[in-house]
Amino acid sequence: MSDNLQAIEALSYEQRKFSPPPTFVQSAHVSDMSLYDEAAADHEGFWARQARELLDWSVPFTQVCEWDLPYSEWFADGKLNVSFNCLDRHVLAGRGDKVAFYWEGEPGDSRVVTYSDLLDEVQKFANVLKSLGVAKGDRVNIYLPMIPEAAVAMLACARIGAAHSVVFGGFSSQALADRINDAEAKVLITADGGWRRGEVFPLKNQADDAVKLTTTIEHVVVVKRGNNDIAMQSGRDHWYHELMAKADDVCVAEPMDAEQLLFLLYTSGTTGKPKGIMHTTGGYLTHVTYTFKYVFDHHPETDIFWCTADVGWITGHSYIVYGPLANGATQVMYEGVPNFPANDRMWSIIEKYKATIFYTAPTAIRTFMKWGTQEPAKHDLSSLRLIGSVGEPINPEAWMWYQENIGGGKCPIIDTWWQTETGGIMISPLPGVTVTKPGSATFPVPGVGAELVDEEGNHVSKGGGYLTLTKPWPGMLRGIWGDQKRYRETYWSRFAGRYFAGDGAKLDDDGYLWLLGRVDDVMNVSGHRISTTEVESALVSHPSVAEAAVVGANDAMTGQAIIAYVTLRGGLEVNEQVLREHVATEIGSIAKPKAIYFTPDLPKTRSGKIMRRLLRDVAEGRNLGDTSTLADVSVVSELQRRAAETPSED
Ligand code: PRX
Repeated sequence: MSDNLQAIEALSYEQRKFSPPPTFVQSAHVSDMSLYDEAAADHEGFWARQARELLDWSVPFTQVCEWDLPYSEWFADGKLNVSFNCLDRHVLAGRGDKVAFYWEGEPGDSRVVTYSDLLDEVQKFANVLKSLGVAKGDRVNIYLPMIPEAAVAMLACARIGAAHSVVFGGFSSQALADRINDAEAKVLITADGGWRRGEVFPLKNQADDAVKLTTTIEHVVVVKRGNNDIAMQSGRDHWYHELMAKADDVCVAEPMDAEQLLFLLYTSGTTGKPKGIMHTTGGYLTHVTYTFKYVFDHHPETDIFWCTADVGWITGHSYIVYGPLANGATQVMYEGVPNFPANDRMWSIIEKYKATIFYTAPTAIRTFMKWGTQEPAKHDLSSLRLIGSVGEPINPEAWMWYQENIGGGKCPIIDTWWQTETGGIMISPLPGVTVTKPGSATFPVPGVGAELVDEEGNHVSKGGGYLTLTKPWPGMLRGIWGDQKRYRETYWSRFAGRYFAGDGAKLDDDGYLWLLGRVDDVMNVSGHRISTTEVESALVSHPSVAEAAVVGANDAMTGQAIIAYVTLRGGLEVNEQVLREHVATEIGSIAKPKAIYFTPDLPKTRSGKIMRRLLRDVAEGRNLGDTSTLADVSVVSELQRRAAETPSED
């Protein structure tokens, strides 16, 4: 049995149970098992009904799922436009004055954007993109802070059939350049800067450095937000507001094939090169619209939804832009950090906008716990009726704290498991029907097939195993951009006929699923996926580093922390801080190791393979098991001695 499965076995169970509150059940979309029964009886028929009921199709589909493992096509002969579904149809139905976004800037400025406003901006910006030569099938990169223009840019791409590739604003210029190059994007949309922790962080400078490393970008559009000084390159760079002032008002939404590429989103895998995950139009939109409606039990007339993710991640794509807007939701969008100007900022925003549904990450919840219950207690959070979690396993203590201190003891919690690759939520309670247990994501949502298997791929009905998905689903990735071989190898080769998610999980006696984290070389740091190889490559690219090994060690606050072991080139010296900054430059601040240990040698097997298991044990302060295959045992004892000293932190 692998180390990971042993770790899974070692976990104890949480026995508390929480039924949906009767008042919640009364108005819930789902309060019995009928949706589960329908999906179990007719998988394709179930999804076809969702697609027909929840979306407007310009050309109705007759085909549902074409499954040629590992490729699926959904609703392939139908046509629809994503931005029409997210905007026009609400305005046409007389809901143009409904607020789409209550946007809150970090310094305290705010904007109210209605569905009509958003539709106007999107039409104009779609015309701007066309005027810059963007056509159906092209790729557009987006590198923006959390401002409404991020949603405008994404929807404008969707309107004209260009695929967007959003890069999180915290990524470095090198990471941006890699993604632009891989996608061969024509246009980059960025901002002068954005607000973070009371200061403007420059984006345009980073974008300029990135564009120098690329050959395909013809135009850069710059939104004015930070008012910081930037250089504009004549002919290439354009102010967003100037282009918008000249743009035509009308851009009719063109019906797209259901399988038209909607976006690429890069995510870390087990190699150093991030993968461009491909999502298409009809299936993806069906999946996120359906899950938004039922998992969040969304009621468009009364709910105010707030998802704290950044649009640069899949959560922002699916549950700030596409799922909520397709459902006509009113949302809160916040630009900055949770502790500016003080530790109660999130709770003051909930109170200000009377948010009813709040969706955040366990790492944030653990930070809120650290800041203390007096912070939420300063505010009236009684508007909340449902709270959710995503990105990493939520520990029972954090779950209970969240329920008591944010949910006021009355809100169901939805712990939602999914991935960039799955497009939308896969495993989660349905809040009006599922009895929850703190720390368990419970069951697959109706229409999703998930199963645990052992090392040999045998079905596991109780205990620990590898999480696999057994049936195609509409929001599933359609591949890895430019690398279909890697697509097969990464997701479909480990267990025949099954999608392997990379996660371990456990099934308890009642059939509840407990997600237990990654079982591959992908780390989960504050809910962000970072591969060990990616950080190792960044370290080794520093001229003084000969060799590096990176492991994810358990961390009470961030889930996992990045610990690096580095061997320097003969005679060279470098400071730990310099290497951490080097990683930030290569990838972004989120990938900075928490601690770097310098060592004359890395522990290796006699055949020369780095023994990561040992390094993880060292980093987590565990007793080492069998070291008999180790070439030089003294290397490890020295590392252990040094790990006992407190690791450095930002
Ligand atoms: O390990 C799982 C973890 O996050 C991974 C997916 O990361 P990413 O593609 O960046 O998407 C994050 C947001 C959807 C998964 O393989 N993960 C995500 N949600 C949960 C989770 N682990 C446990 N419980 C969750 N609710």
